[in-house]
Amino acid sequence: MESFEKNSPIGLMDSGVGGLTILKQMISICPREDYIYFGDTKNLPYGEKTKKELIPIAKQIFDFFAEKKVKAVIMACNTTSATVYDELKDDYDFKIYPIIQIVSKCITADKKLSRIAVMATQATVNSHKYSQELSKNNPKIEVFEQACPLWVPIVENKITDYDEKQVVLEYLENVLKFHPQKIILGCTHYPYMLNKLVKYAPKELFINPAGIFAQYIKNDLKDKNLLSQRESGTVQYFASADPEEFRQNAKLFLEIKNTPQLAVL
Ligand code: DGL
Repeated sequence: MESFEKNSPIGLMDSGVGGLTILKQMISICPREDYIYFGDTKNLPYGEKTKKELIPIAKQIFDFFAEKKVKAVIMACNTTSATVYDELKDDYDFKIYPIIQIVSKCITADKKLSRIAVMATQATVNSHKYSQELSKNNPKIEVFEQACPLWVPIVENKITDYDEKQVVLEYLENVLKFHPQKIILGCTHYPYMLNKLVKYAPKELFINPAGIFAQYIKNDLKDKNLLSQRESGTVQYFASADPEEFRQNAKLFLEIKNTPQLAVL
């Protein structure tokens, strides 16, 4: 691989601001990379869409990244990793990193884990992708999947006046009845809910996959001799609708100085 390809940007995609939880980790451990973040605010929430609806959407975003000549795309979206990754994975030259497949592989390296719960979008839960992927490394593992459909709207629409008992505690109580050793926050938006969740269960129970995922990607780029050689990196942001609103919502996770560019899908 020539050095100009090492210095090519890395694309990250999510339906909105949730994937910024992954971008933040990537910037902290790979600060020399150039990143292009795509928040598909026009089509969110993905969690309420079908696989059939999500395939053409993801294709458009991947075509956008192909035009930008990225060296890799981080599928920082559990829902598309669950529903469309298998459909698109062989159609592009760049490397694709799907969050569910990679995080499941890393987590099950610990063979002591035999009961895992996952909180995720409805589409991710319907796909049972976490169950399938976690079982690959440990066929005896028991997995409980809980959909939390109101959490993405809470983040993206900055809803604060919700009934915490109904919207947080009821989902969590279902999960706790299963007596999990760990609970995976299986949607990139969900780390925002962590400060509510820890009121009812110990912090150590929850896995925010962003750190594990970013570390795997860094190691893999290093193995493939694809880490950037630049002194420092940049980030470009694109949103498919209301870029200024995206910038405001992004503040939940990180500061974006200028209004993102509008990407027409
Ligand atoms: N944040 C995405 C995920 O990790 C999708 C959320 C949504 O748009 O429903 O699944």
